[in-house]
Amino acid sequence: MAADVRPLSPIVRVRNLVRQFTLKGVLNGVDLDILKGEFVALLGRSGSGKSTLLRALADLDREATGSGDIRVPERLSVVFQDARLLPWKRVLGNVMLGLDGSEAEVRARRALEEVELGAREASWPSELSGGEQQRVALARSLVREPELLLADEPFGALDALTRIRMHGLLKRLSAVHRPAILLVTHDVDEAIELADRAVVLEDGKILAEVSLDLPPSGDPLRARLHAGLRSTLLGLLGVGEGGHDEPTLRDHAGPEPVEGAFAVRRGQIRLRPGKGEEYFG
Ligand SMILES: Nc1ncnc2c1ncn2[C@@H]1O[C@H](COP(=O)(O)OP(=O)(O)O)[C@@H](O)[C@H]1O
Ligand SMILES: [Mg+2]
Repeated sequence: MAADVRPLSPIVRVRNLVRQFTLKGVLNGVDLDILKGEFVALLGRSGSGKSTLLRALADLDREATGSGDIRVPERLSVVFQDARLLPWKRVLGNVMLGLDGSEAEVRARRALEEVELGAREASWPSELSGGEQQRVALARSLVREPELLLADEPFGALDALTRIRMHGLLKRLSAVHRPAILLVTHDVDEAIELADRAVVLEDGKILAEVSLDLPPSGDPLRARLHAGLRSTLLGLLGVGEGGHDEPTLRDHAGPEPVEGAFAVRRGQIRLRPGKGEEYFG
């Protein structure tokens, strides 16, 4: 077997994953690697199979049939669009669910403080706003110190301002806990804001992988690169800004992309073989 020359070996490894419901093929041979601590956004049109892929990774897809290899770490947590808190347990009880040992309560309290809900531990879920409930769900996931966090549109039901606050929170939590994260989202800006890499699903296959490496905020290049990534991703999703006259990253970077001068470098954006064109090819 050839030696793995990459600096980090993947913590998630999916090969030739096929999933179908009755006669309908939903995933038609998905390959995906996620590195330890890497934040990956999974984009795709509605019905493209994003949730099916996430559920397969979480081993929650008993209705589907299929084949392929999935390797995921044992310690994984899942967050959905709805917080799925148990209404008959108080907030602290919800975070402690499934934890055992004498430390459970201490850890759950610490997790609630991390999501800035330490003062609400005795509340019932129904007394919390949607955003607060999602923060409890995040605390419940992270208290287990997962190596992999799977999140299916976790902010999809929140208003815009709450969503922005949740972005900040998730960024801080992921910097502290460093789980690998697979975030399903239909929001291109959310993907760029949060993730290291975007993976675009189409027709049950991975159409493209786009590095979302941006210079730090305050860098004058950041806004231009952000705009370039945005139009690239929207183009890949076939919405809005897409089309031939759209500025691409090549335009933003100038006719000759300068190696090292931009966070997006030659070869970082690539379409999968068999899908034709290569960006920066
Ligand atoms: N439990 C199910 N039974 C039958 N069909 C399903 C089931 N779950 C998903 N599908 C179908 O699989 C396709 C992909 O669904 P899904 O993975 O939920 O897409 P996405 O999350 O990208 O919107 C859709 O056409 C959907 O109708
Ligand atoms: Mg979905």
